[in-house]
Amino acid sequence: MAEFTLPKNSKIGKGKTWTAPAGATNVRRFKVYRWDPDDDANPRTDVYEIDMDSCGPMVLDALIKIKNEIDPTLTFRRSCREGICGSCAMNIDGRNTLACTKAIDDIGGEVGVYPLPHMEVVKDLVPDMTHFYAQYASIQPWLKADTPADPDRERLQSPADRKKLDGLYECILCACCSTACPSYWWNSDRYLGPAVLLQAHRWIVDSRDEATGERLDQLEDPFRLYRCHTIMNCTNTCPKGLNPAKAIGEIKQLLVERRGA
Ligand code: SF4
Ligand code: SF4
Ligand code: FES
Repeated sequence: MAEFTLPKNSKIGKGKTWTAPAGATNVRRFKVYRWDPDDDANPRTDVYEIDMDSCGPMVLDALIKIKNEIDPTLTFRRSCREGICGSCAMNIDGRNTLACTKAIDDIGGEVGVYPLPHMEVVKDLVPDMTHFYAQYASIQPWLKADTPADPDRERLQSPADRKKLDGLYECILCACCSTACPSYWWNSDRYLGPAVLLQAHRWIVDSRDEATGERLDQLEDPFRLYRCHTIMNCTNTCPKGLNPAKAIGEIKQLLVERRGA
């Protein structure tokens, strides 16, 4: 019988436990993924016991407290602290979300914190987004129009056309959806994934854009678009409450209508 074993460096070891300060009565445990490319060791999980009486309410507050007061080697990304920049996306309590908007009180027991799944890790909780951003660039996410703009005013849009961008323009490109998508896990070399496809849809439906046909041509491909099998993980995990699966369905529908036209 075939025997399968994991490569040595994929096994996660048990790391250090940092105990709560003496006298702390309101303690939560955070189990955090650690990996340093410079020390040739396997990944590990360190446990940090935090005194919640001196910590803010969000998971990001706990990570910042760990870095500032307990262990300065912990590495993670963050910027806005209010769910706008998308940099603090990680896997918390088994779900991809934003550390700055995830309340610690909404998690029972030990809080598990891991990098976004199925991405190369740069260090600790920092995934390598290079490929994801290259895929985003490939859809040419800017307004394309041959009609010259009026030099004295913006390109106008009716309220009804502007409304078509609702549910799309709010995407912060955090990649929570794409890294929750099984099709993206196995085919991310060629499948664009839900985040990038939602962005593609945002430009396809923009009434001011004149490259709709060209954009649809680029997506009419067995891998770039059609690896989506409507599993819905993307929509279930989006921390902004968006619906990438619906956006993908609408692109497919436009392609069907175009063929029939
Ligand atoms: S659709 Fe949601 S989960 Fe996906 S990148 Fe945009 S904001 Fe993040
Ligand atoms: S609906 Fe499509 S994009 Fe979303 S998780 Fe499923 S396969 Fe991935
Ligand atoms: S820090 Fe900007 S989204 Fe969390």
